[in-house]
Amino acid sequence: MFFDSHAHYYDEQYNADRNEVLKKVYDSGVKYILSASSDVASAIENISLARQFDFVYAAVGIHPHNVIDADNDFISALADFTAFPKVVAIGEIGLDYFYDNTPREAQKIAFARQICMAVELKLPIIVHDRDAHEDTLAILKNENARKAGGVLHCFSGSVEMAREVLNNNFYISVGGPVTFKNAKKLIDVVKYVPDDRLIIETDCPYLAPEPFRGKRNDSGYISFIAKKIAEIKDRTLDEIAQITTANAKRLFNID
Ligand code: NI
Repeated sequence: MFFDSHAHYYDEQYNADRNEVLKKVYDSGVKYILSASSDVASAIENISLARQFDFVYAAVGIHPHNVIDADNDFISALADFTAFPKVVAIGEIGLDYFYDNTPREAQKIAFARQICMAVELKLPIIVHDRDAHEDTLAILKNENARKAGGVLHCFSGSVEMAREVLNNNFYISVGGPVTFKNAKKLIDVVKYVPDDRLIIETDCPYLAPEPFRGKRNDSGYISFIAKKIAEIKDRTLDEIAQITTANAKRLFNID
């Protein structure tokens, strides 16, 4: 049984077969999915999926790419969505200095405001950090994000950064890149992270693991990620499935 802690099922890549894909991945053993949002429109779609499918949960937040297009009152829109009980996190939020779709100052302000809201609402946050490790850590600390807790999704930092993140009450989520050829740094991180702080994700439809790299991803491929982690940590696939599912349920207060 798997928990895919980060997916994007509102994405238009599923428009032709969304319900079939969700049924298929459930039957393949993925018993929990958290669909993360990138803006207000995708939050609405995720909530509708969570209403339709028992095993789908929603996170609501403005992705750094989309901050530039967000209305000024996006915080109150997001806060309203959290009244729905299957909204279990704020995300994904953070900083992206690789694409820089939104000017960095605006990214930082939106990130800080959403952390503040999460602390107030007592919801964990899902953090996107691409080429912005230093500023991400600084803002998490400044805004007291440890009170909300949460996860660094698709973790791409070093072991030193992982240590800081763990010390600040955060989990680390590992996705498809752990199966890629150049994964040495991430493999060291997986070895380092204690069992009770590791969760897994597909980030589908993006970031399909090997041997499907470049194709449309779905939660069914999470077993390839778990299998790689089992190898790295010298565990069975079952153990990794159980550990990461229990961790994600604890983090997102499910059951
Ligand atoms: Ni994502």
